[in-house]
Amino acid sequence: MANLNTEFCGLNFKNPIVVASAEPGNSVDNMKKCIDHGAGGIIIKTIGDIPGMQTLTKHSKYAILNDKGQPIQGKVNRNFFFYSRSGYVSEPYQEWIPILAESQQYASENGSHIIGNIASGTIDGWVMLAKMLEDCGIPLIELNYQCPHPTDFEGPTEGIWIAQDPRVAAELTERILEAVNIPVMVKLTPETHNLTEIAKASYDAGAASVAVNSRFVGFAVDIDNAKPYIDGLAGIGGPWVKYMTLRWIHDIYSKHGIPMSASNGVYDGRDAIEFFMTGARLMQVCSVLMLKGIEWLPKIIAGMEKFLDENDYPDLESIYGIASRKAKSPAEFFEAAPVYSLIDHDKCKTPRCTICAKVCFYDALHIVNDRMVVDAEKCIGCELCQSVCAFDSITLIEDKQRVALNA
Ligand SMILES: Cc1cc2nc3c(=O)[nH]c(=O)nc-3n(C[C@H](O)[C@H](O)[C@H](O)COP(=O)(O)O)c2cc1C
Ligand code: SF4
Ligand code: SF4
Repeated sequence: MANLNTEFCGLNFKNPIVVASAEPGNSVDNMKKCIDHGAGGIIIKTIGDIPGMQTLTKHSKYAILNDKGQPIQGKVNRNFFFYSRSGYVSEPYQEWIPILAESQQYASENGSHIIGNIASGTIDGWVMLAKMLEDCGIPLIELNYQCPHPTDFEGPTEGIWIAQDPRVAAELTERILEAVNIPVMVKLTPETHNLTEIAKASYDAGAASVAVNSRFVGFAVDIDNAKPYIDGLAGIGGPWVKYMTLRWIHDIYSKHGIPMSASNGVYDGRDAIEFFMTGARLMQVCSVLMLKGIEWLPKIIAGMEKFLDENDYPDLESIYGIASRKAKSPAEFFEAAPVYSLIDHDKCKTPRCTICAKVCFYDALHIVNDRMVVDAEKCIGCELCQSVCAFDSITLIEDKQRVALNA
């Protein structure tokens, strides 16, 4: 069995699957259940000192939509959209001291970790909450920078999210780290054009890692009732968003090599492998657990093990960042040798099938004498025809002359 051990922020994780900050981390019982189901770690739901964010959670609303924008009833498969709204933990932060102590003890007895998650409306509040978690023995804190800006920073920043401004993200991280001796992980928002810059600023300010990233805000419309689902704006996520998250993981890994945990889009073990191959060391999982139950967790972990075993990888370390390191630059794209589409006429189903010609926007595919033929002078080797061919009839080759002769 492949080794799923991974090091992150000075901690050893028995596997890299961590339950993301959300409802599964809102009580001792829920956290124990995650630990019992094999979680490498659990990030607690955000503890905050902003009363409105506590009240919001008591009015939480969740809608699960399918790819037609309709509510899913029954089995949820991977093409879901999770449209939901909640705030921070409902209890005043002081009530979390015994909850943290009990869950942290249970985690350490069972080879897992409780990771903190905090947010405040003032710098003093951030510092106070961070210290409180440190005093409870929490070994790592995630800083949830997606919240209203502290009122006590100067400059034209009032009202923005902290994770949208590298200067503010860096300054706040420094202030928190002056007060605590445990590592912190800065949780970023995808709602910015300069996520890599904000990750770098946070890391340079002393953060041990960054979490890339939280969800987008969306607006989902129930056209049958002519109104928004759950009455208005809400967070939106699901496996569909994975490639956008991977883009930032790749960018940050390639440019700065900052330790990262990935959040936003993991459904199964294969997704988790994609994130690890791109440059994330921990994978945070939320929506899929909320929709399928914590029982889904061991399936994600087993899926990772299965992939490594089937592909003869001895451990996670052997795949860390390998996909990102193989990515080519635009200049290298242009240097690649040209290829041309070659049709296997024995397999091709023309004239019954013509889909490849419909999707060739270079006018390189035509039916001649009931056969699909390639005009080698026009083919640019884009591979779209190969993608849509259901009969495995197309290969891309460098030999232009052979393609021309095959016409
Ligand atoms: C219902 C719900 C509640 C959440 N609550 C929090 C929270 O309290 N703090 C936080 O940092 N992120 C919160 N998140 C964001 C998740 O931690 C996670 O970043 C996001 O859901 C993307 O991961 P996923 O694709 O696995 O769902 C919440 C997400 C959902 C769906
Ligand atoms: S898509 Fe495939 S089977 Fe269909 S016409 Fe093209 S090559 Fe032939
Ligand atoms: S590779 Fe692209 S350009 Fe060439 S035939 Fe196929 S779709 Fe057309």
